[in-house]
Amino acid sequence: MRIGVMTGGGDCPGLNAVIRGVVRKAERSYGASVVGFLDGWKGLLEDRFMHLDIEACRGLLPRGGTVIGTSRYHPYMYEDGIDRVRKTFAAHELDGLICIGGEGTLSCTHRVGNDGIPVVGVPKTIDNDIGGTERTFGFDTAVHIASEAIDRLHTTAESHDRVMVVEVMGRHVGHIATWSGLAGGATMTLIPEKPFDIAEVCEALERRHARGRYASIVVVAEGAKPAEGTMDLDEHPVDKFGHVRLGGIANQVAAQIEARTDLETRVTILGHVQRGGTPTAFDRVLSTRFGVAAAEAVHDGKFNQMVALESERIVCKPLGECVAELKYVSDELYNTASMFFA
Ligand code: F6P
Repeated sequence: MRIGVMTGGGDCPGLNAVIRGVVRKAERSYGASVVGFLDGWKGLLEDRFMHLDIEACRGLLPRGGTVIGTSRYHPYMYEDGIDRVRKTFAAHELDGLICIGGEGTLSCTHRVGNDGIPVVGVPKTIDNDIGGTERTFGFDTAVHIASEAIDRLHTTAESHDRVMVVEVMGRHVGHIATWSGLAGGATMTLIPEKPFDIAEVCEALERRHARGRYASIVVVAEGAKPAEGTMDLDEHPVDKFGHVRLGGIANQVAAQIEARTDLETRVTILGHVQRGGTPTAFDRVLSTRFGVAAAEAVHDGKFNQMVALESERIVCKPLGECVAELKYVSDELYNTASMFFA
């Protein structure tokens, strides 16, 4: 048996641990070989690859990033893209292709699967927004990094009696913001699922600071949205792949707080720090389990499926179902977080 593996979209802690899991299971259980395609779909389009065996995976478990590279290129950007992928797949005599990616890569993987190439998806993203799985790997690490940053901001905010606005990633969902806000004791957390009214945010902060010397931490998800007609936001640029580049809302929220209140306010945008470096123990374990299960799925012929975490077990689910809708923050979780606001 021969298995291809690629990583697509933004990188994420745990990618290397998945690759290591795939290779270990493929080699140990099936005597299979693994080919890693370089830079996402680009490697399949251009037939650029490296051989991956147990030896090549030494030291990968704690290593951030992806040793086979990643990109946002995909086959449907080119008229002959899918034929080129098919040609590469055939040239390597592959039995299946494991695609490790987020929403964009997995939607594309589903399409490639429908076009007749045997694929298995692995849900990667710090955003935790993929349907069908209780967790994506990378999320726990991002939450850990953001919570630690919030803890640190608390002490400096207290010293100066300031408001700290902390922006975290997450694209169109507020999982990182809600979890890190809860873990870090945020004064308020603004997420895309719950459009905010900046006037209400400012009033709540003023009431809090009027009670005495208080530090405030406002966690803002990069994709947070003001309620209609309450505040204008700058347009987001779009990159060459049609990917909206979020980031910067914290500056606009902080400017409004300073304009509407007497509260001194500072901004921290955590950015790519959230997805750099070594994965947490939870993400290492989840990534390893996903990798092993993905190799197993190829062996068992479970194609156009995605490995997923469900009630502590790793299962396979139809890719189409998983990419049909983003997974949003539940009301139950957000209501718990909001019990601690202001
Ligand atoms: O999807 C993961 C993610 O880190 C998002 O949270 C963020 O909006 C985006 O990727 C950033 O992408 P890029 O690396 O292209 O700036």
